[in-house]
Amino acid sequence: MKRILLIVGGGIAAYKACELIRLCRKAGIAVRCVLTDGGAHFVTPMTLAALSEAPVHTSLWDLKDEAEMGHIQLSREADLVVVAPATADLLAKMAAGMADDLATTLLLATDKPVLAAPAMNVRMWQHAATTRNVAQLRRDGVTVLEPDEGAMACGEYGPGRLPEPAAILAAIERALAPEPEPALLAGRHVLVTAGPTQEAIDPVRYIANRSSGRQGYAIAGALAKLGARVTLVSGPTALPTPQGVTRVDVESAQQMADAVEAALPADAAVMVAAVADWRVNAAPRKLAKGDMESRLELVPNPDILATLGHGPRRPGLLIGFAAETHDVLAHAAEKRARKGADWIVANDVSGDVMGGTANAVHLVTANGVESWERMDKEVVAQRLAERIAHALA
Ligand code: CTP
Repeated sequence: MKRILLIVGGGIAAYKACELIRLCRKAGIAVRCVLTDGGAHFVTPMTLAALSEAPVHTSLWDLKDEAEMGHIQLSREADLVVVAPATADLLAKMAAGMADDLATTLLLATDKPVLAAPAMNVRMWQHAATTRNVAQLRRDGVTVLEPDEGAMACGEYGPGRLPEPAAILAAIERALAPEPEPALLAGRHVLVTAGPTQEAIDPVRYIANRSSGRQGYAIAGALAKLGARVTLVSGPTALPTPQGVTRVDVESAQQMADAVEAALPADAAVMVAAVADWRVNAAPRKLAKGDMESRLELVPNPDILATLGHGPRRPGLLIGFAAETHDVLAHAAEKRARKGADWIVANDVSGDVMGGTANAVHLVTANGVESWERMDKEVVAQRLAERIAHALA
């Protein structure tokens, strides 16, 4: 049986740790809890002990605990250390390597992988200090999940909510899964499109959409980790290029179509970009208010996925995405047929998926539909990359 050490930090989201323990136990994962002083303001050791059916550790100086199990041992007997909720303070201490209570001492003493699920006020999450600490932790090899976006207990709105317990469980299961064969995709070329496109109206204005590029970038990175040669054709985004990926920057749908064509042949292609269906015949000079028509003349853009799907240089495995707000599966199946794709990854974007960090997807193939639980976009990417590797094997 796999075991995790769950460190419950101080935050209103600590109550969700209870649900997380329940889900882990249901998934056959043993949980041992450490409760920080802050966490103890929100949940009691008794609750965690009852749910985990194991003693809960709270103090560095508890002689009884030390006699039963030293903190070094406690930090190492688990397969994974999970921090949920990870407060701004706890992340800062982890990044600095401080060890002034049981939780931080265990985090410094552990030789096991660490996964942190942050939860804090949106301003705290966006503060330069937290950004710096999270970047440092990621460089140190800690998996820091992106917080969810939404209404917060403090009355503000934005990123900072603890990811849903089911999404944290999916990340835990991913972290506990055996490492995939690193060279599974060695020698394969995979093409990925990502991000929005920008369609110029004139030299200063454009039409675009809310795609952040996160899902496509995560897929490109996950494919590269499996040894593939990855070409990422990207619309404008604010994201860093994933390690080992060759990135080609474009703006418009037409430029994206040309860059895709130039990158062929490919063994597989994953078209994640939110391509604008229409463009405008752009004016060569800035339009003044007085020059503006009351409506824009729209011209259809090439469908990059369909062109590949029905063209002579079709990759052996062709995957499209479908962002839908209603009738998700019916539209996805229809797009799969119309665009000549092998798989469609359909997602319901009626919530906060577009530009957000989590995704609930359905994989639509010739064999039917497989629905994945809502999970971090990174985890969706890893799963999909492994599926691609197996399909190409
Ligand atoms: N796509 C593409 N080129 C386009 C439009 C879409 O390659 N000009 C790809 C996307 O990257 C995605 C898939 O097609 O993989 C589905 O895109 P979507 O916008 O949902 O499909 P549409 O054909 O625009 O369907 P709808 O009628 O719902 O707008």
